[in-house]
Amino acid sequence: MKLKKHIFLIGFMGVGKTSTSRKLSKRLHVEEADTDAMIVQREGRSIPQIFEESGEPYFREVETGVLTELAESEPCIVSCGGGMAMQEQNVVKMRECGVIFFLTASPETVYSRVKDSTSRPLLNGNMNVPYIRQMMETREPKYRSAADIVIETDGCTSAEVADKIIAKLGDIT
Ligand code: S3P
Repeated sequence: MKLKKHIFLIGFMGVGKTSTSRKLSKRLHVEEADTDAMIVQREGRSIPQIFEESGEPYFREVETGVLTELAESEPCIVSCGGGMAMQEQNVVKMRECGVIFFLTASPETVYSRVKDSTSRPLLNGNMNVPYIRQMMETREPKYRSAADIVIETDGCTSAEVADKIIAKLGDIT
């Protein structure tokens, strides 16, 4: 299948953007890209290393650079790092070339998915439901205003989330 526009998956850490984009890619036979994986590859360092050695602002610059590169390439499914939609310039870029799906999950669901991860520097040392809830509430308005379509993922497998997205794709594919 050939997409007319990119499909961007945004949302908080641990909502299942990467696993959903893999499912979508298989179901639609369309390439998928993961902005975190592209950053790691480009930098030759892990995300925690980039944050520690170069700081978050540097990470955000590289993240925007990766998005710019994707925006100029063939439409595909893009799993975005959880902070991508926090920068207005990124949202503008995504809107220009794609459809934005905001994946939601409760703080409890997110916690259950990320609690054993050490690869998310923004949660290191704050791996608990109240912290996740607070950070999610702070970010929520930006995710919502960026989104074309909101998809709830609580209680769903990634295959079910992919089905929900496919049902909404309509004539963009
Ligand atoms: C971040 C989310 C992470 C990663 C980085 C920062 C964020 O991606 O980009 O740790 O600011 O929410 P995931 O959403 O894939 O965990």
